[in-house]
Amino acid sequence: MVPATMWRLCRWRLLVRAAQRGYREARGPQLLTTPIFYVNAAPHLGHVYSALLADVQHRHAALCGRNTRLSTGTDEHGIKVQQAASTVGSDPSDFCAAVSQQFRMMFDTMAISYTDFVRTTEHRHAQAVCHFWKKLEEEGYIYKGTYQGWYCTSDEAFLSEDQTVESRDVDGNKIRVSADSGHQVHWMSEENYMFRLSQLRPKLLDWLQTEPIHPAPFLRIVRQWLEEELPDLSVSRQRNRVSWGIPVPSDPSHTIYVWLDALINYLTVAGYPDQNMASWGPSTHLLGKDILRFHAIYWPAFLLAAGLPPPNKLLVHSHWTCNGVKMSKSLQNVVDPTECIKQYTRDGLRYFLLRHGSPERDCDFTHHTVRKLLNSELADALGGLLNRCTARTINPGQCWPYYQINSVPPAAHSELQRLLGAVQELPRLVDQYMTRFQANKALEAIDSSVRCSNAFFQSQAPWKLSKGEEKDKAWGQCVLYITLESLRLYATLLQPAVPGLAKTILDRLGVPDMYRTLKGNHFFAATLGENCSFQGQTLGTECGLLYPRLEADKE
Ligand code: ME8
Ligand code: MG
Repeated sequence: MVPATMWRLCRWRLLVRAAQRGYREARGPQLLTTPIFYVNAAPHLGHVYSALLADVQHRHAALCGRNTRLSTGTDEHGIKVQQAASTVGSDPSDFCAAVSQQFRMMFDTMAISYTDFVRTTEHRHAQAVCHFWKKLEEEGYIYKGTYQGWYCTSDEAFLSEDQTVESRDVDGNKIRVSADSGHQVHWMSEENYMFRLSQLRPKLLDWLQTEPIHPAPFLRIVRQWLEEELPDLSVSRQRNRVSWGIPVPSDPSHTIYVWLDALINYLTVAGYPDQNMASWGPSTHLLGKDILRFHAIYWPAFLLAAGLPPPNKLLVHSHWTCNGVKMSKSLQNVVDPTECIKQYTRDGLRYFLLRHGSPERDCDFTHHTVRKLLNSELADALGGLLNRCTARTINPGQCWPYYQINSVPPAAHSELQRLLGAVQELPRLVDQYMTRFQANKALEAIDSSVRCSNAFFQSQAPWKLSKGEEKDKAWGQCVLYITLESLRLYATLLQPAVPGLAKTILDRLGVPDMYRTLKGNHFFAATLGENCSFQGQTLGTECGLLYPRLEADKE
C-alpha cells in the first residue's frame, strides 16, 4: 500500500475510535448543540421545542454532576435570508441582528440555559469557516465543476431529480417540489466548487457502525440513504447570485454554500481553529428530522475530510404539527410561544412540550390537550401533593416530622414497601430515560410516582391518624415524612424540566441549595433508620397554589 494512503487509513481509524469512546472518557465538558435557526422569521414553537430538549439534557447533566456546555444561535447567511431582508426593504445585517435578538430573547424568556450563542455573521465564525475551507482544499476534497440540478431555497438544499416530485401551486400551475419538505425547487446550472462527498461513503458507513444516531428509526433512514452512491456536493454559489455569505477564501467571486457555513458553527463554539480540539470529540448535536441529511451525511463527511472526528451523537426529534401539517415559518401555520407563555406560564409550556412531545413521532398541538395535561399533572397531581403535606390543617407545626421505624402498622407494611421500592428506583429510571433522549418518558415516570404518593397519602389518611391513639399519631407522622420526602425527590428531579415550579416546591419544603442536586443527595434515609437532616426542620414560607387550574376557552 502507498504510505500516504496507509497513513490516511490509520488516521481515519483513530478518528472513529475517538468518536466511539464517547463522552465517558472525555476530558473536557461535553458540547451539546441545538440547530442554529434561520433568521428569515420570528421564532415559533418548533424552535422553542428544540432548544428546550437541549436545555433539559444540559440541566439534567448538571444535576447529576456532569459537565456540559450548551450552544445555540442563528444561521444568517444565504439566499433565503437575503430575500427575507429585501422583501421588507431592510439592510441584511440590520435585519439579521434584529431577528437574531428575537431568538435570543425568546430563549431567555424560556429559561434556556445556553452557555454560548453563535451568529454566523460573527468574525470568529468567518475565521473558522475560512480555515475549514482551506483545510478541505489542502486535503484535496474541493474541485471546480458544473452543478446542474434542482435547488430548494426554502431548505437551502441541492436536490437530485428523485428527491423532487411534481406538484401544483395555489393557482393550479405545475411546479416541482422537494419530496421531503414540499417546498418549491428551481432548476439551476452553474459553475461551482464541488466537494468529493462520493469518496466518503465507506467512512460514513463505518461511522454508522458506532450507532451514533438516536432514536433508532432515524439511524435506519440514514443507513437506507447510504445504500446508494452519493453524488458530489456543490459547496459554493456564484457571488452575483448569492452575495449574502462568506466568500471562498481563494476566489471571492464565489460564496460558500450556506449549509457548509452553518454546520461549522459547532466548531466555532468549540474554539476552532485556535483551541486544542479536546472539547470537540464528544459533541452531541440535537436537531429536527427535517435536517437529518445535513447532519448525518454532510456534516460527518466534512469533518472526516478535514481530519476531525465525526459527531459523537445525533439526537433527532420529530415535528410539532398544526392540524396534521408541520408547523413552519414558510407555511405560516405556526403557534406563537409568547401567546402560550401568557396562557400557560413559562413552566407550564415547558412541561407540556417536554411531556407531550415525543422525539419519535410527530405531535399535534391543540390548546385543549395542553389544558387537559397541565390541569391533570401540574395542578391536580403535583399541586395537590404539595398542598396535602404542607397544609396547616394536616401539618400544624409546619415542620418535617420524625420517622419512627417501629411505628409502621403491619397492615400498611406492604403498601409502604411498594411505594418506597418504586420511588427509590426513580432517580436511576429518570437518568436512564434522559440519557436515552426520552424526556417525555422521564416526566411520565415522575408523574406516575406523584400519583402513587397521593394514593398512599389518601389511603393512610393521616388527618384521621392524628386524632387517634399514640401509635396512630406516630404512624401519621411517618406518613407525612414519607410524603414530604417523596415530594422533595420529585421536585429535585423536576428541576431540569420546570426550574421555576421545582424551586417553588423546594423553597416551600425548606430545602437548602446543597440538597438540590442528585450527586450525594440521599432520600428516605430515616426509613432505613439513618439520620435525615430534615427531621425537625421547619418548612419554608407558604407559596399558595402551585399551578392554578386552567379554565376552558370562553368561545
Ligand atoms: O434548518 N417541530 O433552520 P430552521 C419541531 N438554519 N421542531 C421544529 C419545527 C417543528 N414544526 N420547525 C422547526 C435550519 N423546528 C438551519 C439549521 S444547523 C447547522 C442549521 C426546529 O430555522 C427543528 O430543530 O429552519 C428544526 O431542525 C429546526 O427548527 C430548523 O430550523
Ligand atoms: Mg426550516
